[in-house]
Amino acid sequence: MKFGTIGTSWITDSFIEAAKKSGKLFFEGAYSRSEEKAKTFTGKHGGRQWFASIEDLAESSEIDAVYVASPNSLHYEQVKVLLRGGKHVICEKPMFMTVKECDDAFALAEKEDVFLFEAIRNIQTPVFRRLKEELPRAGTIRSGFLHLIQYSSRYDKFLDGKVANVFSPEYAGGALEDLGVYPLYAAVDLFGAPLESVYYPVKLSNGIDGSGTLILQYDGFVCTILCSKIAHSQVPSEIHGEKGTLRINSSSDISQLEWMDAHTKKTEVVASHPSDNDKVFEIVRFADVIENHDMEEYRRLKGLSRQVLEIMEKVRKEKGILFPSDEDEI
Ligand SMILES: NC(=O)c1ccc[n+]([C@@H]2O[C@H](COP(=O)([O-])OP(=O)(O)OC[C@H]3O[C@@H](n4cnc5c(N)ncnc54)[C@H](OP(=O)(O)O)[C@@H]3O)[C@@H](O)[C@H]2O)c1
Repeated sequence: MKFGTIGTSWITDSFIEAAKKSGKLFFEGAYSRSEEKAKTFTGKHGGRQWFASIEDLAESSEIDAVYVASPNSLHYEQVKVLLRGGKHVICEKPMFMTVKECDDAFALAEKEDVFLFEAIRNIQTPVFRRLKEELPRAGTIRSGFLHLIQYSSRYDKFLDGKVANVFSPEYAGGALEDLGVYPLYAAVDLFGAPLESVYYPVKLSNGIDGSGTLILQYDGFVCTILCSKIAHSQVPSEIHGEKGTLRINSSSDISQLEWMDAHTKKTEVVASHPSDNDKVFEIVRFADVIENHDMEEYRRLKGLSRQVLEIMEKVRKEKGILFPSDEDEI
Protein backbone atom coordinates (compact mmCIF):
# COMPACT_ATOMS: atom_id res chain seq x y z
CA MET A 1 0.00 0.00 0.00
CA LYS A 2 1.27 3.46 -0.88
CA PHE A 3 0.73 6.24 1.63
CA GLY A 4 0.92 10.00 1.88
CA THR A 5 1.32 12.19 4.96
CA ILE A 6 -0.07 15.32 6.60
CA GLY A 7 2.25 17.08 9.06
CA THR A 8 6.01 17.46 8.72
CA SER A 9 7.23 17.32 12.33
CA TRP A 10 9.48 14.61 13.82
CA ILE A 11 6.53 12.28 14.44
CA THR A 12 5.92 11.98 10.68
CA ASP A 13 9.65 11.28 10.12
CA SER A 14 9.38 8.55 12.71
CA PHE A 15 6.21 7.06 11.19
CA ILE A 16 7.77 6.93 7.72
CA GLU A 17 10.87 5.18 9.14
CA ALA A 18 8.62 2.66 10.91
CA ALA A 19 6.63 2.12 7.71
CA LYS A 20 9.89 1.29 5.89
CA LYS A 21 10.78 -1.24 8.57
CA SER A 22 7.30 -2.77 8.46
CA GLY A 23 7.54 -3.61 4.77
CA LYS A 24 3.78 -3.00 4.59
CA LEU A 25 3.39 0.69 3.75
CA PHE A 26 5.41 2.60 1.15
CA PHE A 27 5.85 6.35 1.36
CA GLU A 28 4.70 8.17 -1.76
CA GLY A 29 4.69 11.84 -0.74
CA ALA A 30 3.81 14.56 1.74
CA TYR A 31 1.38 17.44 1.99
CA SER A 32 2.45 20.59 3.81
CA ARG A 33 0.97 24.07 4.11
CA SER A 34 4.24 25.17 2.54
CA GLU A 35 4.87 23.74 -0.95
CA GLU A 36 8.61 24.12 -0.41
CA LYS A 37 8.39 22.08 2.80
CA ALA A 38 6.25 19.42 1.10
CA LYS A 39 8.84 19.10 -1.65
CA THR A 40 11.84 18.95 0.72
CA PHE A 41 10.14 16.55 3.15
CA THR A 42 9.06 14.23 0.33
CA GLY A 43 12.58 14.25 -1.13
CA LYS A 44 14.18 13.57 2.26
CA HIS A 45 12.20 10.33 2.58
CA GLY A 46 12.56 9.21 -1.03
CA GLY A 47 8.94 9.95 -1.99
CA ARG A 48 7.97 10.44 -5.61
CA GLN A 49 5.46 13.29 -5.43
CA TRP A 50 4.46 16.05 -3.07
CA PHE A 51 1.04 17.61 -2.57
CA ALA A 52 0.03 21.27 -2.50
CA SER A 53 -3.38 20.64 -0.94
CA ILE A 54 -5.14 18.02 1.16
CA GLU A 55 -7.69 17.71 -1.65
CA ASP A 56 -4.90 16.79 -4.13
CA LEU A 57 -3.70 14.15 -1.67
CA ALA A 58 -7.23 12.80 -1.19
CA GLU A 59 -7.82 12.58 -4.92
CA SER A 60 -4.47 11.12 -5.96
CA SER A 61 -4.76 7.73 -7.67
CA GLU A 62 -1.21 6.99 -6.44
CA ILE A 63 -2.24 7.03 -2.77
CA ASP A 64 -4.04 4.22 -0.90
CA ALA A 65 -3.70 5.49 2.66
CA VAL A 66 -2.83 8.69 4.51
CA TYR A 67 -1.11 9.18 7.86
CA VAL A 68 -2.39 12.32 9.63
CA ALA A 69 -0.09 14.00 12.19
CA SER A 70 -1.41 17.53 12.43
CA PRO A 71 -2.54 19.39 15.59
CA ASN A 72 -5.44 17.57 17.26
CA SER A 73 -8.25 20.01 16.52
CA LEU A 74 -7.58 19.76 12.76
CA HIS A 75 -7.88 15.97 12.56
CA TYR A 76 -11.65 15.74 12.03
CA GLU A 77 -11.95 18.03 9.00
CA GLN A 78 -8.79 16.66 7.37
CA VAL A 79 -9.79 13.03 7.94
CA LYS A 80 -13.20 13.63 6.36
CA VAL A 81 -11.63 15.03 3.17
CA LEU A 82 -9.37 11.97 2.94
CA LEU A 83 -12.16 9.47 3.58
CA ARG A 84 -14.33 11.13 0.93
CA GLY A 85 -11.41 10.68 -1.46
CA GLY A 86 -11.55 6.94 -0.78
CA LYS A 87 -8.35 6.76 1.28
CA HIS A 88 -7.68 4.58 4.31
CA VAL A 89 -6.65 6.84 7.18
CA ILE A 90 -4.28 6.36 10.10
CA CYS A 91 -4.74 9.40 12.31
CA GLU A 92 -2.57 10.31 15.27
CA LYS A 93 -3.93 10.16 18.79
CA PRO A 94 -6.18 11.67 19.99
CA MET A 95 -7.98 11.14 16.71
CA PHE A 96 -11.07 13.22 17.56
CA MET A 97 -12.27 15.56 20.27
CA THR A 98 -15.92 14.54 20.54
CA VAL A 99 -17.95 11.35 20.24
CA LYS A 100 -20.01 13.06 17.55
CA GLU A 101 -16.90 13.59 15.39
CA CYS A 102 -15.89 9.98 16.02
CA ASP A 103 -19.28 8.55 15.02
CA ASP A 104 -19.51 10.78 11.92
CA ALA A 105 -16.04 9.85 10.71
CA PHE A 106 -16.45 6.09 11.23
CA ALA A 107 -19.84 6.22 9.47
CA LEU A 108 -18.20 8.04 6.55
CA ALA A 109 -15.39 5.47 6.41
CA GLU A 110 -17.99 2.71 6.22
CA LYS A 111 -19.90 4.53 3.48
CA GLU A 112 -16.70 4.99 1.46
CA ASP A 113 -15.64 1.38 2.16
CA VAL A 114 -12.28 2.37 3.65
CA PHE A 115 -10.64 1.83 7.05
CA LEU A 116 -9.98 4.44 9.72
CA PHE A 117 -7.48 3.85 12.54
CA GLU A 118 -6.29 5.83 15.54
CA ALA A 119 -2.49 5.67 15.81
CA ILE A 120 -2.16 4.63 19.43
CA ARG A 121 1.05 2.64 19.48
CA ASN A 122 1.34 1.43 23.09
CA ILE A 123 -1.49 -1.13 22.95
CA GLN A 124 -0.04 -2.74 19.82
CA THR A 125 3.34 -3.55 21.33
CA PRO A 126 4.21 -7.22 22.02
CA VAL A 127 4.85 -6.46 25.72
CA PHE A 128 1.44 -4.84 26.21
CA ARG A 129 -0.22 -7.76 24.50
CA ARG A 130 1.64 -10.09 26.84
CA LEU A 131 0.43 -7.99 29.78
CA LYS A 132 -3.15 -8.63 28.67
CA GLU A 133 -2.49 -12.35 28.57
CA GLU A 134 -0.87 -12.28 32.02
CA LEU A 135 -3.65 -10.27 33.69
CA PRO A 136 -5.47 -13.32 35.20
CA ARG A 137 -2.23 -14.25 37.00
CA ALA A 138 -2.67 -11.22 39.27
CA GLY A 139 -5.92 -12.64 40.66
CA THR A 140 -8.61 -10.21 41.70
CA ILE A 141 -7.47 -6.74 40.61
CA ARG A 142 -7.49 -4.23 43.45
CA SER A 143 -5.83 -1.14 41.98
CA GLY A 144 -4.02 0.20 38.96
CA PHE A 145 -1.55 3.04 38.69
CA LEU A 146 -0.79 4.05 35.13
CA HIS A 147 0.95 7.26 34.28
CA LEU A 148 2.82 9.34 31.77
CA ILE A 149 4.65 12.25 33.34
CA GLN A 150 6.99 13.78 30.79
CA TYR A 151 8.41 17.28 31.08
CA SER A 152 7.97 19.04 27.74
CA SER A 153 10.53 21.44 26.30
CA ARG A 154 7.51 23.25 24.88
CA TYR A 155 6.57 24.12 28.47
CA ASP A 156 9.74 26.20 28.70
CA LYS A 157 8.51 28.08 25.62
CA PHE A 158 5.05 28.40 27.19
CA LEU A 159 6.64 30.05 30.23
CA ASP A 160 8.39 32.42 27.81
CA GLY A 161 5.01 33.36 26.37
CA LYS A 162 5.14 31.18 23.21
CA VAL A 163 2.19 28.79 23.28
CA ALA A 164 2.83 25.67 21.19
CA ASN A 165 -0.20 23.88 19.71
CA VAL A 166 0.09 21.12 22.31
CA PHE A 167 -0.41 23.69 25.11
CA SER A 168 -3.25 25.47 23.33
CA PRO A 169 -7.02 24.99 23.76
CA GLU A 170 -7.44 26.18 20.15
CA TYR A 171 -5.55 23.09 18.93
CA ALA A 172 -7.04 20.78 21.57
CA GLY A 173 -3.81 20.38 23.52
CA GLY A 174 -3.22 19.64 27.19
CA ALA A 175 -1.84 16.80 29.27
CA LEU A 176 -4.89 14.53 29.07
CA GLU A 177 -5.25 14.76 25.29
CA ASP A 178 -1.52 14.52 24.60
CA LEU A 179 -0.25 12.06 27.23
CA GLY A 180 -3.16 10.82 29.35
CA VAL A 181 -4.56 9.13 26.27
CA TYR A 182 -1.80 6.44 26.46
CA PRO A 183 -2.48 5.14 29.99
CA LEU A 184 -6.22 5.62 29.43
CA TYR A 185 -6.11 3.45 26.29
CA ALA A 186 -4.13 0.86 28.25
CA ALA A 187 -6.73 0.85 31.05
CA VAL A 188 -9.72 0.59 28.70
CA ASP A 189 -8.07 -2.16 26.65
CA LEU A 190 -7.27 -4.11 29.84
CA PHE A 191 -10.38 -3.47 31.94
CA GLY A 192 -13.06 -2.09 29.62
CA ALA A 193 -15.14 1.02 30.23
CA PRO A 194 -15.14 2.21 33.86
CA LEU A 195 -18.30 2.61 35.91
CA GLU A 196 -17.32 6.21 36.75
CA SER A 197 -14.59 8.60 35.72
CA VAL A 198 -13.45 11.95 37.04
CA TYR A 199 -10.51 14.16 36.11
CA TYR A 200 -8.67 16.57 38.41
CA PRO A 201 -6.71 18.90 36.13
CA VAL A 202 -3.89 21.24 37.12
CA LYS A 203 -4.58 24.15 34.84
CA LEU A 204 -2.09 26.60 33.36
CA SER A 205 -2.72 30.32 32.87
CA ASN A 206 -4.60 29.78 29.57
CA GLY A 207 -6.97 27.18 31.06
CA ILE A 208 -5.27 24.12 29.53
CA ASP A 209 -4.31 21.19 31.77
CA GLY A 210 -0.54 21.07 32.27
CA SER A 211 -1.07 17.93 34.31
CA GLY A 212 -3.88 16.01 35.92
CA THR A 213 -5.16 12.90 37.68
CA LEU A 214 -7.88 10.78 36.14
CA ILE A 215 -9.69 8.38 38.44
CA LEU A 216 -11.45 5.39 36.88
CA GLN A 217 -13.82 3.47 39.14
CA TYR A 218 -14.28 -0.21 38.26
CA ASP A 219 -16.20 -2.94 40.00
CA GLY A 220 -13.86 -3.87 42.90
CA PHE A 221 -10.97 -1.55 42.14
CA VAL A 222 -9.85 1.92 41.11
CA CYS A 223 -7.38 2.76 38.38
CA THR A 224 -5.50 6.02 38.85
CA ILE A 225 -4.04 7.71 35.82
CA LEU A 226 -1.54 10.56 36.11
CA CYS A 227 -0.44 12.64 33.16
CA SER A 228 1.81 15.67 33.07
CA LYS A 229 3.76 17.80 30.64
CA ILE A 230 5.13 20.05 33.38
CA ALA A 231 6.99 17.54 35.57
CA HIS A 232 8.95 14.34 35.02
CA SER A 233 8.87 10.80 36.38
CA GLN A 234 10.41 7.45 35.51
CA VAL A 235 8.38 5.42 37.99
CA PRO A 236 6.90 2.32 36.32
CA SER A 237 3.17 1.74 35.90
CA GLU A 238 1.57 -1.08 37.87
CA ILE A 239 -1.53 -3.23 38.16
CA HIS A 240 -2.07 -4.67 41.61
CA GLY A 241 -3.92 -7.94 42.15
CA GLU A 242 -4.45 -10.06 45.26
CA LYS A 243 -1.91 -12.60 43.93
CA GLY A 244 0.68 -10.18 42.64
CA THR A 245 1.66 -7.09 40.71
CA LEU A 246 2.21 -6.67 36.99
CA ARG A 247 4.59 -3.82 36.24
CA ILE A 248 5.43 -2.15 32.94
CA ASN A 249 8.36 0.23 32.49
CA SER A 250 6.15 2.90 30.88
CA SER A 251 2.58 3.34 29.68
CA SER A 252 3.66 4.74 26.31
CA ASP A 253 7.04 3.17 25.38
CA ILE A 254 6.35 -0.30 26.71
CA SER A 255 9.39 -2.54 26.48
CA GLN A 256 9.44 -4.59 29.70
CA LEU A 257 6.90 -6.48 31.82
CA GLU A 258 7.69 -7.70 35.34
CA TRP A 259 5.78 -9.86 37.78
CA MET A 260 6.03 -9.49 41.55
CA ASP A 261 4.47 -12.20 43.70
CA ALA A 262 2.38 -10.61 46.48
CA HIS A 263 3.44 -13.23 49.03
CA THR A 264 7.11 -13.96 48.27
CA LYS A 265 7.77 -10.39 46.99
CA LYS A 266 10.04 -11.97 44.38
CA THR A 267 10.24 -10.17 41.04
CA GLU A 268 10.83 -11.71 37.62
CA VAL A 269 11.00 -10.31 34.11
CA VAL A 270 8.13 -11.84 32.11
CA ALA A 271 8.65 -10.19 28.74
CA SER A 272 11.06 -7.81 27.19
CA HIS A 273 11.01 -6.42 23.68
CA PRO A 274 13.06 -3.29 23.17
CA SER A 275 12.16 -1.32 20.10
CA ASP A 276 13.64 1.90 18.87
CA ASN A 277 10.46 2.57 16.88
CA ASP A 278 7.35 0.83 18.19
CA LYS A 279 5.13 2.35 15.48
CA VAL A 280 6.12 -0.67 13.41
CA PHE A 281 3.71 -2.81 15.47
CA GLU A 282 0.67 -0.61 14.88
CA ILE A 283 1.48 -0.29 11.17
CA VAL A 284 1.69 -4.05 10.76
CA ARG A 285 -1.58 -4.49 12.68
CA PHE A 286 -3.46 -1.87 10.62
CA ALA A 287 -2.11 -3.21 7.33
CA ASP A 288 -3.16 -6.75 8.31
CA VAL A 289 -6.68 -5.56 9.13
CA ILE A 290 -6.95 -3.90 5.72
CA GLU A 291 -5.37 -6.75 3.74
CA ASN A 292 -7.38 -9.49 5.46
CA HIS A 293 -10.54 -7.43 5.81
CA ASP A 294 -10.43 -8.37 9.50
CA MET A 295 -13.72 -6.77 10.54
CA GLU A 296 -13.67 -8.30 14.01
CA GLU A 297 -10.39 -6.61 14.90
CA TYR A 298 -11.47 -3.42 13.12
CA ARG A 299 -14.65 -3.23 15.19
CA ARG A 300 -12.64 -3.86 18.36
CA LEU A 301 -10.22 -1.02 17.62
CA LYS A 302 -13.05 1.29 16.59
CA GLY A 303 -14.88 0.46 19.84
CA LEU A 304 -11.76 1.22 21.88
CA SER A 305 -11.31 4.59 20.16
CA ARG A 306 -14.90 5.48 20.95
CA GLN A 307 -14.78 4.35 24.59
CA VAL A 308 -11.57 6.28 25.27
CA LEU A 309 -12.89 9.38 23.55
CA GLU A 310 -16.19 9.18 25.43
CA ILE A 311 -14.29 9.30 28.74
CA MET A 312 -11.92 12.08 27.66
CA GLU A 313 -14.74 14.25 26.32
CA LYS A 314 -16.86 13.80 29.45
CA VAL A 315 -14.14 14.42 32.04
CA ARG A 316 -12.56 17.43 30.33
CA LYS A 317 -15.95 19.11 29.73
CA GLU A 318 -16.89 18.56 33.40
CA LYS A 319 -13.77 20.56 34.32
CA GLY A 320 -14.29 23.32 31.75
CA ILE A 321 -11.55 22.28 29.33
CA LEU A 322 -13.19 23.28 26.07
CA PHE A 323 -12.03 23.10 22.46
CA PRO A 324 -13.27 24.69 19.21
CA SER A 325 -15.20 21.51 18.32
CA ASP A 326 -17.30 21.93 21.47
CA GLU A 327 -18.61 25.26 20.19
CA ASP A 328 -19.87 23.53 17.02
CA GLU A 329 -22.17 21.42 19.18
CA ILE A 330 -23.87 24.32 20.91
N1 LIG B 1 2.37 8.69 18.48
C1 LIG B 1 3.27 9.46 19.04
O1 LIG B 1 4.25 9.01 19.64
C2 LIG B 1 3.11 10.94 18.92
C3 LIG B 1 4.14 11.79 19.32
C4 LIG B 1 4.00 13.15 19.12
C5 LIG B 1 2.83 13.66 18.60
N2 LIG B 1 1.83 12.81 18.26
C6 LIG B 1 0.58 13.33 17.69
O2 LIG B 1 0.90 13.82 16.38
C7 LIG B 1 0.09 14.96 16.11
C8 LIG B 1 1.01 16.12 15.76
O3 LIG B 1 1.74 16.48 16.89
P1 LIG B 1 2.97 17.51 16.79
O4 LIG B 1 3.45 17.73 18.14
O5 LIG B 1 3.91 17.07 15.74
O6 LIG B 1 2.18 18.82 16.30
P2 LIG B 1 2.72 20.19 15.70
O7 LIG B 1 4.21 20.18 15.72
O8 LIG B 1 2.01 21.28 16.37
O9 LIG B 1 2.20 20.13 14.19
C9 LIG B 1 2.43 19.02 13.36
C10 LIG B 1 2.36 19.44 11.89
O10 LIG B 1 1.08 19.98 11.60
C11 LIG B 1 1.22 21.12 10.76
N3 LIG B 1 0.69 22.28 11.50
C12 LIG B 1 1.22 22.88 12.59
N4 LIG B 1 0.48 23.92 12.98
C13 LIG B 1 -0.54 23.99 12.11
C14 LIG B 1 -1.63 24.87 11.98
N5 LIG B 1 -1.81 25.90 12.81
N6 LIG B 1 -2.50 24.67 10.97
C15 LIG B 1 -2.32 23.64 10.09
N7 LIG B 1 -1.29 22.77 10.19
C16 LIG B 1 -0.42 22.94 11.18
C17 LIG B 1 2.71 21.33 10.48
O11 LIG B 1 2.99 20.78 9.21
P3 LIG B 1 3.19 21.74 7.93
O12 LIG B 1 3.88 22.98 8.43
O13 LIG B 1 4.05 20.93 7.05
O14 LIG B 1 1.83 22.00 7.37
C18 LIG B 1 3.38 20.50 11.55
O15 LIG B 1 4.56 19.89 11.12
C19 LIG B 1 -0.78 15.20 17.33
O16 LIG B 1 -2.04 14.61 17.13
C20 LIG B 1 -0.03 14.49 18.44
O17 LIG B 1 -0.87 14.06 19.49
C21 LIG B 1 1.96 11.48 18.41
